[in-house]
Amino acid sequence: MPTPADPGFFARLLDPAQRHDPYPLYAAMRAHGPTRLGETPVVVLSSYRDCATVLRHRASSVERHHASIPLGPTPVHDLAGEHADAVSGTASMLFRDPPDHTRLRRLVAKAFTPAVVRTLEPRIIEIADAALDRAAERGRLDVVADLAYPLPITVICELLGVPLDDELRLREWSMLLSRSLDPISTTVTAGRPDPAQLVDASNELHDYFEQLIRRRSRSGEDLMSALIAAEDSGDALTRDELISTCVLLLIAGHETTVNLIANTILALLRHRHYLAILGVAAPFATAVIEESLRYDPPVQLVPRIAREPIELPGIELAAGDLAIMLIAAANHDPAVFPDPTRFDPARADRHLAFGLGQHFCLGALLARLETSVAITRFARRVRNPRLVVDPPVYRDHITLRGPAAIPVTFTEIA
Ligand code: HEM
Repeated sequence: MPTPADPGFFARLLDPAQRHDPYPLYAAMRAHGPTRLGETPVVVLSSYRDCATVLRHRASSVERHHASIPLGPTPVHDLAGEHADAVSGTASMLFRDPPDHTRLRRLVAKAFTPAVVRTLEPRIIEIADAALDRAAERGRLDVVADLAYPLPITVICELLGVPLDDELRLREWSMLLSRSLDPISTTVTAGRPDPAQLVDASNELHDYFEQLIRRRSRSGEDLMSALIAAEDSGDALTRDELISTCVLLLIAGHETTVNLIANTILALLRHRHYLAILGVAAPFATAVIEESLRYDPPVQLVPRIAREPIELPGIELAAGDLAIMLIAAANHDPAVFPDPTRFDPARADRHLAFGLGQHFCLGALLARLETSVAITRFARRVRNPRLVVDPPVYRDHITLRGPAAIPVTFTEIA
């Protein structure tokens, strides 16, 4: 039996058999403390304190060239291996430090302020209700395919100004590219997506946005038009930055939220008294969503590279070390969250599900609003919902983890 210090132990996280419940593995890693994977420059952190310290640390970088193992500008480049030179485009803000990060984030942040996000609510309710109406007509409901997926993909496409008719192609590219966020490129090779497929998906999505942007005017009302027109203190975006921003928003804007909606409804179906409360008291959604984000976060881990040595209790990160922060493990740290495996919406909100510091999720408010609408409409309209299988089947993804399908039975969709 490998111990947490063994690279084989971390590799067990890749095993699809662990996907429905990785929390016992995380607990073992947390109990073991900060863990260097063998002789590598890769360190896994799983306590709340260590993850929060590194996320906030001034020496933490997201620029991958600082790593002492050779990494490309994005995980797609690494997974592409010998085809890396064929990958078009540039790294998005997620992989850029200041000052580029500050410039890119400032340009997009205007679209995600509380006032702007609030204006989207009526349309989000319409989309959720239409999704439930379609399920009612069919007499069948898979929470993932019929509600959790269509809601955020429609919202982000409309926000960006991407034609929803292209959704099938977008879904395939996004599915592949989101797998590149898994830690397989730097730690183990098992379970890698096919490099050629990945390069194709990345380039096709890049070309897709390039063509959309070429046809787009500066005067449109959507976010893409606003970005094209953007001139922030005279410091506009390059064409490649514009494309990488659109790709990031498209993928980050739905892959994660699908999982938050699905994970939250799954938790509610397993804790039916909360579902009943939500059916009559919509404001309870806020507490349920924050607890769901803590209990089963859609993003399970985030990486950072130490630009300079970073001192933590029990380990020192050397310059160039790659820290993998298991934020899902940090969210179950009993030092911060007593009885962490209990789903309890009454807790105070201190989870790391949206990250911390400079790269704190830009879409957090939008994700919360979409999920609030989805779960309250579900609780109000779907009568006597029951899980058909428990646990459900999960997608292969490790970083953006979530169920592949949640079929439910019901007596009526009102
Ligand atoms: C439940 C849903 C979501 C979760 C759990 C989530 C989680 C995260 C996390 C953990 C990060 C930080 C990554 C890091 O520090 O390395 C992040 C960054 C980001 N998220 Fe989200 N996200 C969600 C929804 C969204 C939505 C709906 C959008 C946009 C429409 C979005 C856009 C972004 C962007 C642009 C960044 C990069 C910010 C930066 O680098 O400064 N996210 N998200």
